[in-house]
Amino acid sequence: MRIKIITEKTGIEKSEILALRGEAGRALDRLWSGSEPMTGWVQAPMSSRGELLERVLAISDIIRNEAELLVVLGIGGSYLGAKAAIEALPKFERGIPVRFLGFNLCSDYYLETLEEIKNKKTMVCVVSKSGNTMEVRTALEIIKPVLEEKYGSAEAAARRILAITDAKDGSLREEAEEMGYTTLEIPRDIGGRYSVLTAAGLLPMAVSGIDIREVLDGAADCANSPEWDGDAVDYAISRFLLQEKGKEVELIELCHSRLNYLGEWMKQLYGESEGKNGGGLMPSTLVFSTDLHSMGQYLQQGRQIFMETMVIVDKPVRDIPIPAGPQAGKTVRDLSAAMVSGVVKAHRTIGIPVVEIHLPVLDAYEYGQLLYFLETTCAITAMLSGVNPFDQPGVESYKAEMHKLLD
Ligand code: PA5
Repeated sequence: MRIKIITEKTGIEKSEILALRGEAGRALDRLWSGSEPMTGWVQAPMSSRGELLERVLAISDIIRNEAELLVVLGIGGSYLGAKAAIEALPKFERGIPVRFLGFNLCSDYYLETLEEIKNKKTMVCVVSKSGNTMEVRTALEIIKPVLEEKYGSAEAAARRILAITDAKDGSLREEAEEMGYTTLEIPRDIGGRYSVLTAAGLLPMAVSGIDIREVLDGAADCANSPEWDGDAVDYAISRFLLQEKGKEVELIELCHSRLNYLGEWMKQLYGESEGKNGGGLMPSTLVFSTDLHSMGQYLQQGRQIFMETMVIVDKPVRDIPIPAGPQAGKTVRDLSAAMVSGVVKAHRTIGIPVVEIHLPVLDAYEYGQLLYFLETTCAITAMLSGVNPFDQPGVESYKAEMHKLLD
């Protein structure tokens, strides 16, 4: 594996990790057994190749040729994976801008995006596993008349809509068939927050110009690397044990400006998979070094209820030398490395548990490795905690209450 995981700075004894490796290893075997429900994502880096990859690439070519803008309608797992990757990764030159709608209920944000649609040749990709999510269905209803007006008829608008959804169920599937939208599927055995390596994540990424073959290669190499087993298991065990020892929060600390949305994706993955039965570390994100100047005080001297997972990119695309002043002769990368080491040292001095995840560079291959590694870690921690990593009954209850009010 190119990404490097350091789990030795948590204060947990090696013997405690060893004692749980058997159980965590059995959880990993269950994930790979093919008989556990909702574990299709385990094979996604491999199963998303071949026919599906070719179809995603062909559709993304059409979109890039026919549009100046892709608007993706989605929320939660049907938007965060694509959004995070698009923010993080380098693009090749034929990509087009991708905007997102349907992930909030903010009229002002709608108006800005609709204005952009009026002025640019646009295609729309609506992503919803269930096909019934209120925010996403609403976004589609709002956008259809805009497309109809722009392109002259409902039929012409329909030709500019792609639906990524379940193969059979849901109102989006019904509408797609009735209106003749182009469609791609989210496999039934892959839940929203684990769907980034299916068409749901790959299509928007490809349209933006990301090399999705590299993302899948990285994820597949992670899936097939024995080294990865050990890293994912040890990080999962550390998270589980820290919770058992009373930690309540996992601070995900993003040490690169392009990783802020990766933090949002991780928050959903960890929060929805593990926050059950009154347990689970509550995931929260910080951006370094920015937040060291707002939260640094709390971290060092506030309530010690948290562990830290730092996501660090070791090498920038291009480094900047500092021309003058006290840091002259160094580079921005030197300062960033000193910041990371300084934080770890200061926090370890007072016993804060720290896990470091290092990406040597921020590219599509390593990002694919990282996604797969995090999905696996999360599922194992949840299984050690005795909760189902793949359901979200809490989300369903808020939806039910909201629908009662709306009805
Ligand atoms: O992880 C999940 O299952 C959820 O967060 C969903 O991704 C989110 O609610 C959106 O659901 P859908 O894709 O069905 O529109």
